[in-house]
Amino acid sequence: MKIGLIYSRVRFEEKQIITALERRGVAHDLIDDREIVFNLTPQYDGHPEKQHGVKFVRPEKFLQYDVALDRAMEFTRGLYALQILNSWGVRTVNRASVVAVCGDKLLTTAALSQHNVPSPRTEIAFTPEAALEAIENMGYPVVIKPIIGSWGRLVAKINDREAAEALLEHKAVLGHFLHEIFYLQEFIAKPGRDIRLIMMGDEIVSAIYRSSAHWVTNTARGATAQPCPLDAALETIARNAARAVGGGFLAIDVIEDPQRGYLVNEINPTPEFRGSETATGADIPNKLIDYLIQVASGKS
Ligand SMILES: Nc1ncnc2c1ncn2[C@@H]1O[C@H](COP(=O)(O)OP(=O)(O)O)[C@@H](O)[C@H]1O
Ligand SMILES: [Mg+2]
Repeated sequence: MKIGLIYSRVRFEEKQIITALERRGVAHDLIDDREIVFNLTPQYDGHPEKQHGVKFVRPEKFLQYDVALDRAMEFTRGLYALQILNSWGVRTVNRASVVAVCGDKLLTTAALSQHNVPSPRTEIAFTPEAALEAIENMGYPVVIKPIIGSWGRLVAKINDREAAEALLEHKAVLGHFLHEIFYLQEFIAKPGRDIRLIMMGDEIVSAIYRSSAHWVTNTARGATAQPCPLDAALETIARNAARAVGGGFLAIDVIEDPQRGYLVNEINPTPEFRGSETATGADIPNKLIDYLIQVASGKS
């Protein structure tokens, strides 16, 4: 049993995973995603294994792993690495197809909706004009988000038409192509917090409230974490959400709507879990290793 761990930076989470691997004597390699050069066409060999300090990765190098764990911090880097590995038949956590959906809020919302998992009302537009019409029609406040992103970056609440016009103009002028997709969502009057569930397969490993005076409740933005009690409805929505996107090691973010109850806001495919672990005492690194072993053996 050998694990390949792809990482960008050894953060709190990676440190804990590595320590747990060492303690349990699980064979593993650490693979720095800045050094990788994947050889996509190994029939044209010519690369030595190592050159100028850079590791050229032929399929054989990764075929030795029973499972590879992706901890890349940059979404596209992780996604493409996983796509290559899966194309070589290497098992990964998570699977590339799951990361492709969860890393993109549009695709996540579509998958949730398709599987009847409750989520906030969401509309997509491709031009500022169409976006303005959708916003006016939805009624203020409206939340607008980049379809790819995290830590609450560029997630904005639009309170009136003037703010909408200004923000849409800025996006149009400064726009990266991803900002030409307008992801618009009703604002949920949630109780000063959201809920984050860490899942591995069907198992809920931890659940926390992330509370903040600000409506954006990312811990990266200063929200505080407290344990969140599970109830049957929360367990059901979490499992259904995980299944809707294909399952794996995921953080499911849920917001509480005063009328409709639990709504799934988004799903993170490369979860940070420091807050979850500190607040609940759950041993996430060791559970993750158990889960990796399960995946390696083809059971998950
Ligand atoms: N529609 C919404 N209504 C109310 N609060 C929201 C809504 N969407 C997001 N939020 C708040 O903003 C935070 C960040 O939004 P999120 O969609 O999770 O983006 P990110 O991927 O950057 O974390 C959420 O954790 C939640 O607290
Ligand atoms: Mg989030």
